Amino acid sequence: MPLERQDANPMTPYQLPFPKDAQEEIVVARAIPDDERLWVPQAENVWFRPLCLSRSQGYWMNLLRVRKAGVLSRHRHPQAVHGFVLKGRWHYLEHDWVAEEGGYVYEPPGETHTLVVPEDVEEMITFFQVNGVMCYVDPWGKVQGYEDVFTKIDLCRQHFAEVGLGEDYVERFIR
Ligand SMILES: [Fe+2]
Repeated sequence: MPLERQDANPMTPYQLPFPKDAQEEIVVARAIPDDERLWVPQAENVWFRPLCLSRSQGYWMNLLRVRKAGVLSRHRHPQAVHGFVLKGRWHYLEHDWVAEEGGYVYEPPGETHTLVVPEDVEEMITFFQVNGVMCYVDPWGKVQGYEDVFTKIDLCRQHFAEVGLGEDYVERFIR
């Protein structure tokens, strides 16, 4: 595309409107929240904090918090997962590596794993991008349940209503 106008000043902001169909950005001031109500319980000693629930592309960005000896049950990922450990330490029963504070993890499609936080870790928090679906399975891969962006949204609605934030509170995270 030819440059019709010239402006050498790097501080000149973009001058045109954004595409009219573009969605609104999400800005979360305290991603690790001070308000305990923003942690949505999902199992014993396991919570998630929604940041972006992409119903249009079928993925979710969230903080996973697991306390002392908590377990995220065995599940299979048909799509990739990205994780960045913000606090604490955890491992999968199926791998010999340990994810530690400051570490990044890529989980390829086809992974089946069980996330465990050891006894000596008070709390772990990891930022995960989860794509598509998580299929909860028995040790031989038989599917017993699933989670996707829609079940996550439902859990948030129910929890936010229960804690008094109102079920609509989740809307700010949905795109
Ligand atoms: Fe996983």
